[in-house]
Amino acid sequence: MLLNLLLLSLLPLASPFLLPPPPPSLPTALRALVDPLLSVPFPASLPLWSAEVTEGNMFRPAGTYLCASSPSHSVAALNPQTLAFVPGGGLGFVLEEVASSASAGITCVSELVPGSPAAATGIEPGDCLTSISCGGRAVSLEALGYDATIEALTGLIGGLSAPAELTVTASRLQRTPMVNVTLLSPFDPPQTLSMPAGSNLRRTLLVRGFKLNDALAERFDSGGTGDCGAEGTCATCAVSVQRGMELLSPAGLQEQQIFQNNPRWRMACKVVVGHGGKEGELVVRLSPRQS
Ligand code: FES
Repeated sequence: MLLNLLLLSLLPLASPFLLPPPPPSLPTALRALVDPLLSVPFPASLPLWSAEVTEGNMFRPAGTYLCASSPSHSVAALNPQTLAFVPGGGLGFVLEEVASSASAGITCVSELVPGSPAAATGIEPGDCLTSISCGGRAVSLEALGYDATIEALTGLIGGLSAPAELTVTASRLQRTPMVNVTLLSPFDPPQTLSMPAGSNLRRTLLVRGFKLNDALAERFDSGGTGDCGAEGTCATCAVSVQRGMELLSPAGLQEQQIFQNNPRWRMACKVVVGHGGKEGELVVRLSPRQS
């Protein structure tokens, strides 16, 4: 009875199964802005949800949080949505449990009841509710199974006897914007890599086994055989951008001064590829002094 008060209709539970292993990458924890062009349509989004247990950090306290099950997707937070709740009515979210374990779960919106308060929000099928608040009280719905979600909802609004304004937050799964990076090298044939937007160019190349240590670089540090450790002074990580400069983070003053005679050169250690979530094609020449 209480359930009917809260939710106009609820799908039967999907078969519970164990949570998939948490993804290895950090970017899912640092949520990006929602981009409609990157959204994954429902129901294709459902198997891409996961949850991870994290220790507390400067961004959020310790707990279990929704994330994407692969680095090619990420979780973005929607702006808070307001709903007008009327006792006796329902919110209008049809919920479906995607996964559950003893301590966590994933419950998604699978449908919005037409004409309901939920239908007037920007929340869509495939999104996961993450919190709901009313009158200064808030409860987290993050990474909860179906039963725990219902329990949290009823605990907050089950006793309301007068119309109230609720604020709901939700997360959306979206594709990670990618940049195709073609590397031209004086020593090797051209290669093309796919990098998630937001990647540091030097770090990503080093992880993938590419060397960035141009022995002919005009250095602005004390010199030696190594590099400056990404301090932006040795210039051994210089690359010449042949195409896609607009996809890179802007050059800082120091970088501009060092490369004032080579405006297409960038320090890979200072470059963020896909700056601002941009996608596209990038062509860079490695070790440009040797090309
Ligand atoms: S590693 Fe030294 S300037 Fe990039």
